[in-house]
Amino acid sequence: MDDTGAGPVLILGGRSEIGIELARLLAPGATVVLAARKADQLDEQVAAVKAAGAQTVRTVEFDADDLASHGPLVDSVVAEHGPITTAVLAFGILGDQARAEADAAHAVAIVHTDYLAQVSMLTYLAAAMRQAEKGRLVVFSSIAGARVRRANYVYGSAKAGLDGFASGLADALHGTGVKLLIVRPGFVIGRMTQGMDPAPLSSTPAQVAGATARALAKGRRTVWIPWALGPAAAVMRLLPQFVWRRMPR
Ligand SMILES: NC(=O)c1ccc[n+]([C@@H]2O[C@H](COP(=O)([O-])OP(=O)(O)OC[C@H]3O[C@@H](n4cnc5c(N)ncnc54)[C@H](OP(=O)(O)O)[C@@H]3O)[C@@H](O)[C@H]2O)c1
Repeated sequence: MDDTGAGPVLILGGRSEIGIELARLLAPGATVVLAARKADQLDEQVAAVKAAGAQTVRTVEFDADDLASHGPLVDSVVAEHGPITTAVLAFGILGDQARAEADAAHAVAIVHTDYLAQVSMLTYLAAAMRQAEKGRLVVFSSIAGARVRRANYVYGSAKAGLDGFASGLADALHGTGVKLLIVRPGFVIGRMTQGMDPAPLSSTPAQVAGATARALAKGRRTVWIPWALGPAAAVMRLLPQFVWRRMPR
């Protein structure tokens, strides 16, 4: 799976269900660094990645909302383990849409984690990878950002912004030796969506990770999971606003 040479695989959001499933697929023979809040409580995740064949698994404390920590974190991973082979930005929050509509601080908190923190971290990682002239970035966008819905416009707007930023960054990196993959899952049945009824074209964290690993191996720029979401998103863009306004979630 590792086609960019030796170097660490960095999972930002080291407790993310999708992130850990992907870490397991990228693990064989690799050094994997799990970056998460409460990094001393990652025993289960470390064991899973080790069992999948990682040579070494390290943990590092990481709060995505602390933007000032991003640069030093990237520098310390590179200094300790060498140029980063693959960085997976797996952190994110769904937030509470109803609360965010009335509570500006909550709306800003969602956008801070799901957009601003991603922009900050991607910029540090891209600069480090440009310097090394190699590396792969994995960004988790969502169908929620393809056409923002009334029912989840706060999270959806952050994903729309992130998708646009990542798309521009991927083009900026063209020809530098650094690649960026934008992953666009639909509804994923897991911790983030607990208690919600699965939407059509749902997937599991393992399915998302599998499709992401295959897209990485092929050097793709984008991947919809499942693939049928791509054409579905194109149709969604054509629906009149009075219909779109009523779309659930
Ligand atoms: N699940 C879905 O339906 C779905 C669909 C499309 C896209 N996605 C995207 O896929 C990515 C991975 O999601 P997932 O399904 O794996 O969700 P998940 O299991 O809930 O993982 C998200 C992780 O983000 C971490 N996180 C949140 N805020 C953080 C912060 N300030 N600093 C550090 N870590 C933080 C959480 O850490 P803690 O353990 O410390 O809380 C959690 O482990 C996200 O970007 C998500 O938006 C998910």
